[in-house]
Amino acid sequence: MTKPTDGLHERVLIVDFGSQVTQLIARRVREIGVYCEVHPYNRAASVLEGGFAPKAVILSGGPASVTTGASPRAPDQIFSLGVPVLAICYGQQTLSVQLGGEVEGGHAREFGRADVEVLADSPLFEGVWRVGERYPVWMSHGDRVTRLPEGFQVIGVSPNAPFAVAVDERRRFYTTMFHPEVVHTPDGARLLENFLKRIAGLRGDWTMAAFRSEAVERIRSQVGGDRVICGLSGGVDSSVAAVLIHEAIGEQLTCVFVDTGLMRKGEAEEVVTLFREHYNIPLVHVDARGEFLGGLSGVTDPEAKRKFIGAKFIEIFEREARRVGDARFLAQGTLYPDVIESVSFDGGPSVTIKSHHNVGGLPERMNLRLVEPLRELFKDEVRALGRELGLPPAFVGRHPFPGPGLAIRIPGEVTAERVAILQKADAIYLDEIRKAGLYDEIWQAFAVLLPVRSVGVMGDGRTYDNVLALRAVTSTDGMTADYYPFPHDVLGRCATRIINEVKGVNRVVYDITSKPPGTIEWE
Ligand code: XMP
Repeated sequence: MTKPTDGLHERVLIVDFGSQVTQLIARRVREIGVYCEVHPYNRAASVLEGGFAPKAVILSGGPASVTTGASPRAPDQIFSLGVPVLAICYGQQTLSVQLGGEVEGGHAREFGRADVEVLADSPLFEGVWRVGERYPVWMSHGDRVTRLPEGFQVIGVSPNAPFAVAVDERRRFYTTMFHPEVVHTPDGARLLENFLKRIAGLRGDWTMAAFRSEAVERIRSQVGGDRVICGLSGGVDSSVAAVLIHEAIGEQLTCVFVDTGLMRKGEAEEVVTLFREHYNIPLVHVDARGEFLGGLSGVTDPEAKRKFIGAKFIEIFEREARRVGDARFLAQGTLYPDVIESVSFDGGPSVTIKSHHNVGGLPERMNLRLVEPLRELFKDEVRALGRELGLPPAFVGRHPFPGPGLAIRIPGEVTAERVAILQKADAIYLDEIRKAGLYDEIWQAFAVLLPVRSVGVMGDGRTYDNVLALRAVTSTDGMTADYYPFPHDVLGRCATRIINEVKGVNRVVYDITSKPPGTIEWE
């Protein structure tokens, strides 16, 4: 992986043993202002040999048992780097075994809340936990350490975890049986901050201003004098990537914006205005509304819609890119969660690399190399970078929007008339959410135009019109989601306005399905 920070930033290595929540460790560390990278346990040695030079190391939890023969281990050199180590859950167990302690298996797996009693002072607890008090934490463990390595002392216990917190202050090795990275450990973030700042002595020098200037340098050295094209989707990621790249290479960048006719109300104009007028970035605006709607005629199957839209997008983008001519690079807004290599324990330790192509297939097909300046960032960091680059706050804070657009929010056939109804209703819904001050609390909110008609009464007349579903969810990454518990008066106002103002809708329902078992989108 390219290093954004060689020699510049303090950095932390997170060794991944496959825990579901390893990404949260990285989130918390970044929130504290410290740059970190997650690497699988079986790659960590080569990362260190490659000169990563961390100022601290964190060992994650994981599903394996150290009592079985082939279970994963941390590279031994971690313990002789002379830097502080924080070992969480499985990390605690493997550290204990590797340093001469013992772990016993066969205990029932325990999940959930526990109370830790603090037995002794430690820089880990400073200003957060006091001796003699009990504090709630979130545990998830099966095996437990039965004998600590030499030099370790227990400084926190819970009824089922005699070594809830065990430390070797001299070597600066800290181990916890609980997970400080999850919100269910209310003081966890402050304990992590103590580890990074008081114990490892880190200043927290990871800021978006620093990232911006380093990223600009990196883009310049990667691209040289060549041309770059960037597909703008109207979303935050591709827009931030484009503005950053433009800052680096100016006129060598051309953006291509394909208007599918399936965007939210006013969105296409907003993107074009922002790029052309605000930033003066060369932008090819392709009005492909007819091509998309024409091709979708008669298509009702969700997968068929997605396939058609994906293929059409590539066809048009490719055509326009050739017109721009001689580009050697394609810019994409790939984010860190798509890049992190996660460890899979199914059928033995293997490594799966998730790679996400926003415009799938294009780079190989067109013989282009990728420029992905956001690949070290999480979504909220991209938003912070967007603000740093001067993008309007309302633009930067926008909810995610799927590539296939409104087509997958119109179950059944997509027609120009149905798109127009949905756009109007969706705009009213979002307007009411903004007025209620709830927009930023919600991960995604949108309307879905159902292929169902119902009977209603308006004025003196009978109506027989479309049913509209409203959806709003909270989420951290879109992988899981909870429906948003709106105050009823907000929902009521949305329904009244939509029915009064949007011709063609006479009934509004609210979707209260979480993910799983539902998905966020309806198709
Ligand atoms: P689902 O519906 O799978 O959606 O729960 C999870 C998140 O992904 C977005 N989404 C897409 N984004 N292309 C995209 O760029 C797609 O084809 C696509 N499908 C779903 C969805 O809006 C939600 O944020």
